[in-house]
Amino acid sequence: MKISILTLFPNMFDGIFTESILKRAIENERIEIELINFRDYTLDPHNKVDDAPFGGGAGMVLMCQPIFDAVDAIRTPESKVILLTPAGKVYNQKTAYELRNEKHLIIICGHYEGFDDRIRTIADLELSIGDYVLTGGEVPAMVLVDSITRLLPGVIREESYTEDSFTANTLDYPVYTHPRNFRGMEVPEILLSGDHKKIEEYRREEAIKRTIEVRPDLLK
Ligand code: ADE
Repeated sequence: MKISILTLFPNMFDGIFTESILKRAIENERIEIELINFRDYTLDPHNKVDDAPFGGGAGMVLMCQPIFDAVDAIRTPESKVILLTPAGKVYNQKTAYELRNEKHLIIICGHYEGFDDRIRTIADLELSIGDYVLTGGEVPAMVLVDSITRLLPGVIREESYTEDSFTANTLDYPVYTHPRNFRGMEVPEILLSGDHKKIEEYRREEAIKRTIEVRPDLLK
């Protein structure tokens, strides 16, 4: 999969692609990441990409021209264009599973007060990563790339994500490792029993218990 990220701040992505699983996914050519600064596409003599909103109001608004031209330059019939905005549909694991089948994602990161509403016409999908407002789409883009990449073949073992929270409509069951007793807190006896059927039942029950307590909405 190829992912093109349109941003005014490509350096913000330095850390995430040079460590751990994403770094390996890039090295092993499971994903190709292209960072595009859409300021490079502005036709404004002063390199402007934003302007004051018509009708007045606080902050600056991203202009159509640089973003339209950047998307025109890289879009192919196989591209899916995603606009990141707090006004988008809320992103979840189901959408991550759908997006992992795409060949080319173009992710547009907004910044400042917002973007000219006409930019929405070039998007196939508008996504929000949650009901809060961030300074821009860069962190949401990282969230998308990370959550999609780990679902691509050969990135992590499939068992690692098929039991994940949200794939079975429950949160994850609790897990423990050595030592058996830490500051008086014991590992549940059943996990030491070697009885795999019982362990599986226990984990299922704990997952449901935890979900009822913290996220009852998932069970509906
Ligand atoms: N830009 C600012 N806040 C955002 C959010 N919650 N999701 C996606 N893009 C955003």
